[in-house]
Amino acid sequence: MADIVATVYHMSDIHIGEAGVKTKDLERAIRRIEEDASSSPSPVLLVTGDLTTEGLREEYEGAASVLLEVGLPSIVIPGNHDERNYGSAIFEELFGERFKTYETEHFALYAADSSEPDNDAGHVGRVKYNEIRDFYGRSKGKVKVFALHHHLIPVPHTGREHNVVEDAGDVLGVLDSARCSLVLNGHRHVPWMWRLGDMVLYNTGTLLSKRVRGGITQLHTKVEISKDEAVFTLCMKDGSSRLFGRSPLRM
Ligand SMILES: [Fe+2]
Ligand SMILES: [Fe+2]
Repeated sequence: MADIVATVYHMSDIHIGEAGVKTKDLERAIRRIEEDASSSPSPVLLVTGDLTTEGLREEYEGAASVLLEVGLPSIVIPGNHDERNYGSAIFEELFGERFKTYETEHFALYAADSSEPDNDAGHVGRVKYNEIRDFYGRSKGKVKVFALHHHLIPVPHTGREHNVVEDAGDVLGVLDSARCSLVLNGHRHVPWMWRLGDMVLYNTGTLLSKRVRGGITQLHTKVEISKDEAVFTLCMKDGSSRLFGRSPLRM
């Protein structure tokens, strides 16, 4: 493995507001990440949505009380639950833009809001395609990563499919032609990885929701990214961790 260009702590589906989900558990996960990040190269926290359950202010404020005080760079985008009850207005008030970018010398991340008000299905929208192409076009020589809440390809063992991004085919086409290396998303509450041609698509699990599937528990994922490989480590809520897998990356 070449030098690591980014250590991404990928967290999703926190679901503050769900019965039994506590802000102090989010805080504990963040402290664990901060400690690990202190000895990891180029750390960044990525939160791919569903911070809340119903998009309500008190839920948002619980998430923000922790996520706005993180001791490393952080990128937060909304998920379908955050859009409920017109929660996007509160998201923007607390976390800023719903589409964000983050760049370092060798790493370029485009994070998209794939949610729509009161609609659980995902959608990126063709109005954004040129912006995504231009961003990656300016990122030659960098590892190109795309983040969103919803999945672009259905994930096994998650029930009947009805939430895949509506314009998934077009988004995948844009990302592939822009030589995107890696897609990071959440929403399905299980860790899973697909390879599509030369692109890797990784779905992380839920950080705290009780709505897990099968035998998997709550977790976040540490993604160590070098110019030619990504290594995915599952960091379980109980403090344990284990290697999920590794995959070659294209430039
Ligand atoms: Fe979720
Ligand atoms: Fe979701």
